[in-house]
Amino acid sequence: MIKFIRIADMKTVFSGIQPSGLVHLGNLLGAINNWVKLSDGDSKNYFCIVDLHSLTGLPNKNDLKKSIDDTLKVLIASGINLETSVIYKQSDLQEHAYLSWILSNFCQVGELQRMTQFKEKASSFGTHSGLLTYPILMASDILIHKANEVPVGDDQTQHLELTRNIAERFNNNYGEIFPIPEKTSGKSGARLMSLRHPENKMSKSSDDINGTIYFNDSKDSILKKFKSSVTDSENIIKYDQKNKPGISNLIEIYATINDIKISDAEKEFQNSQYGEFKIAVAETVFDYLKPIKNRFDELTTKDIDDIVDENIKLAKNSAQETIKEVEEALGIC
Ligand code: TRP
Repeated sequence: MIKFIRIADMKTVFSGIQPSGLVHLGNLLGAINNWVKLSDGDSKNYFCIVDLHSLTGLPNKNDLKKSIDDTLKVLIASGINLETSVIYKQSDLQEHAYLSWILSNFCQVGELQRMTQFKEKASSFGTHSGLLTYPILMASDILIHKANEVPVGDDQTQHLELTRNIAERFNNNYGEIFPIPEKTSGKSGARLMSLRHPENKMSKSSDDINGTIYFNDSKDSILKKFKSSVTDSENIIKYDQKNKPGISNLIEIYATINDIKISDAEKEFQNSQYGEFKIAVAETVFDYLKPIKNRFDELTTKDIDDIVDENIKLAKNSAQETIKEVEEALGIC
C-alpha cells in the first residue's frame, strides 16, 4: 500500500555532532548509523556539524579545520539519504548564533549553572561564558528548524529539557512559534566504550589509541585492536556491563552493526572462545566501515562543494523562515 504523508504532518528531526578529530566507530554507531536509518524514513532531517559548539574547547585552528572537513566528508559518505536530509555546518548559518542571543532572554543563569556538563567542563577548562551558554546555542540549533524530534544520547537529556523550557517560555510570551521537541534515543544509539579501557567511552582523546577504531583504519589495524581488546578471564560471552564491560562492549558493537538483539548475539556465540569472537567482531566492523571508507575516498572536491552549496541553501531557507516569524513575533522586524 502506498503511504501518503501530508507535508504538514511531516516530522522534522535535528541532530548535531561536534567535529572532534578523526571520526571513530563510537561516533558512527552512537549517532551517524542511526541518522542513516532515519534518513530512509518519513521525516525531514537536519544533520549539523556543530563547529561553533566546539569552540568552547578552544581547539587548535588546523585541527578544527581538518576535523570539520573530515566529519563533513564522512557524513556525506555514510549513506545518509540526501533526498530527505540536509547536512551542513553550523557556522555557515549565522542564524544559529542570532537566535541563540534571542533565546538567551528566556533562560535563567541558574539553570545554565546547574547543567551537569557545564559543571564537569567548567572545572577542567576554567569557566568562560561560552561553556555556560552552550545549551542556549544548542536550543537554537534545534528550534531554528522547528524540529519535533532530536535523536541524542542520554548525556544530552538535560540540554533537551532546557530547550523545551526555553521554547515554552518563548511561546507563552510571544505566541506559538516553536514546536516542543522530543528526545528520541534511536534504536541503534549505542554507547561504545574504549577497547582497552572498557570503563571509559570510546573517544579520540583516549589515553590508549588502540582502544579506538577510526573509520579509515586498515583491516590489519582493526584486527590488531580487537585482538588486544581488554576482556575478562571467564570465557563466557554474556552481556553484563557491570562485571564484563569489555565483552559487553564487543557484543554491543556486533549487535548494533548487524541490527540484532543483544540476546541473539549472545546465542550466536554461546559456544565460542573469546579469541574467535574478537575476530568475528573485527570482521563485522571492517565490512561495515568498508563502503563508507570507499565512498569517502571516491568523493571529489567538486562533489563535496556541490553538495555543501546545495545543502547550505536548503538549511538557510528553513532557518530564515523561522527567524522571520520570530522577529515578527518579537516586533523587531
Ligand atoms: N551537545 C551535543 C553533543 O555534545 C552536540 C549538539 C549541539 C547537538 N547542538 C545540538 C545535538 C543539537 C543535538 C541537537 O553531543
